[in-house]
Amino acid sequence: MFGFLSSLGQSGSADMTIFLQTPSGFFIEKRDGTKIGTMFHWLNGNLLEIGYALLPAERGKGYCTEATQLVLDYLFLSKDIPRIQAATHVGNAASRKVLEKAGFKREGILRKATRSRGEWADLVIYSILRDEWEQPKYSQKPLEESCFSILQESHT
Ligand SMILES: CC(C)(COP(=O)(O)OP(=O)(O)OC[C@H]1O[C@@H](n2cnc3c(N)ncnc32)[C@H](O)[C@@H]1OP(=O)(O)O)[C@@H](O)C(=O)NCCC(=O)NCCS
Repeated sequence: MFGFLSSLGQSGSADMTIFLQTPSGFFIEKRDGTKIGTMFHWLNGNLLEIGYALLPAERGKGYCTEATQLVLDYLFLSKDIPRIQAATHVGNAASRKVLEKAGFKREGILRKATRSRGEWADLVIYSILRDEWEQPKYSQKPLEESCFSILQESHT
C-alpha cells in the first residue's frame, strides 16, 4: 500500500485536467526526530482515503490514533472535501480501533476485496464526515503535549 512517497498532483492540457491518484505521504516522527511510521492519503476516485503503518516496536502506544487525528485536521482544514475514508482488513483489530477512536464510523464490508497471505479477504470501510470531525484536535494543542513533533510530508 505504501510503495510510493509522492505528492498528489495534477497535469494536463488546457481543456483537460488529470488528477494523479498517487499517494501523498507523511512520516510520523517522535519529538526527538525518530521516524516511527508513515501516514498516507490519496484519491480513490473522488474519495479521499488514508492509510498508515507504524514500526512494530512503536505499536500499542497510541501514536497512530494521534497521527490519524492530526492528519484529519490537516485534510479537513486544507481541502474542500465532505468526507475521509479508510479501508482495513476485517481481522485488523488494531487498525479498526484506531479509526473508531479517531471518530470514524463503520460503513460496511467489501467482500473479498484484498489479498492476505495468499487468500482473498474482506475489507471494512470506515468514514468520517466533516460535520462529525467538528473541530481541530491538535492545531490548538501545544506541540509539547503531542507525542511527536511534526508530521513531515515527504515528496520524491
Ligand atoms: C494498525 C497500526 C497502525 C496501529 O498503530 P498503533 O500506534 O499501535 O495504534 P494505537 O496504539 O493508537 O491504537 C491501537 C489500539 O488497538 C488496540 N489493539 C491492538 N492490537 C489489538 C488486537 N489484536 N485486538 C484488539 N485491539 C487491539 C490497542 O489496545 C489500542 O487500543 P487502546 O488505545 O484502546 O488500548 C499498527 O498496528 C500497524 O502499523 N500495523 C501494521 C500496518 C497496518 O496494519 N496498517 C493499517 C492498514 S489499513
